[in-house]
Amino acid sequence: MIGVFDSGHGGLTVLKALKDQFPSTSFIYLGDHAKAPYGNRSSEEVVDLTKAGVETLFNQGCKLVVLGCNTATSIACRTLQQDWLPNTEWQGRNVLGIIAPTVEVATQTPWGVTEPQYPQMYKEDVIAVFATQRTIESAVFDEEIRKRCPQIHVVNQACKTLAGAIEAGEPTDILDEIVANYVSLMMEKSAGKVPHFAVLGCTHYPLVEPLFVKHLPASCRVLSQPRIVAQALEHYLKRHSHYLDADCSDAGLTLLTTGDVLQIEDSLVFAWPDRPEFKAL
Ligand code: DGL
Repeated sequence: MIGVFDSGHGGLTVLKALKDQFPSTSFIYLGDHAKAPYGNRSSEEVVDLTKAGVETLFNQGCKLVVLGCNTATSIACRTLQQDWLPNTEWQGRNVLGIIAPTVEVATQTPWGVTEPQYPQMYKEDVIAVFATQRTIESAVFDEEIRKRCPQIHVVNQACKTLAGAIEAGEPTDILDEIVANYVSLMMEKSAGKVPHFAVLGCTHYPLVEPLFVKHLPASCRVLSQPRIVAQALEHYLKRHSHYLDADCSDAGLTLLTTGDVLQIEDSLVFAWPDRPEFKAL
């Protein structure tokens, strides 16, 4: 059984891609809706909340938890993997983040290669990164991309209010205005240079991807992080197949929340016709 964790709705975009990639594998999702959004919280809070969420999923029987959240990945993943897990009863289980596979695709460079490879596939290209305040402040996308491709110009755009507005189920015209504003701020920063592609570095943002596509210049491609993560997990599980044991094959899908089930079902607009309803934790 594989766990997927997010502050709220956003990780469902990752979960859906994982379920499509591994239809016969059992997944449990936990959305910490009671504490969402995470994007403007302190590092300590994000680490503590992520740890609690992962522990809940381990207690549900997951051996592997994917953080379907860039904020949790950028702020908490390394601490959980290196300082916390080895000192717990959960040894032998693991937590994976979602930024490494995204950077691999953005730079066309394996994660293990941390120096520029020549000739560079991308030269003076521009990459736009849209993410939460905390993810942008962590500078993880910026640093990891430029470590591998120093000539790439990364334009970072924190979208302080977007994940919260999506969580709150704001109507499309409000979300459209918010996305248009962040895209235009990004274009100002890039001094009019059109990004070659845009990373939606918050798993909530694919829920409004058509709005990004509408406002970004037509030649700017949007990278699909959920699909990238699903492909990366497939490679990972080939090398670590012990996470896919017998109890992984009942094809189950459970959605848990720390929040109010009725409110979540009401505010969630996501085209996934046969998904089960959320249950309270
Ligand atoms: N979906 C999350 C992310 O990828 C968190 C958004 C939030 O809670 O602010 O960053």
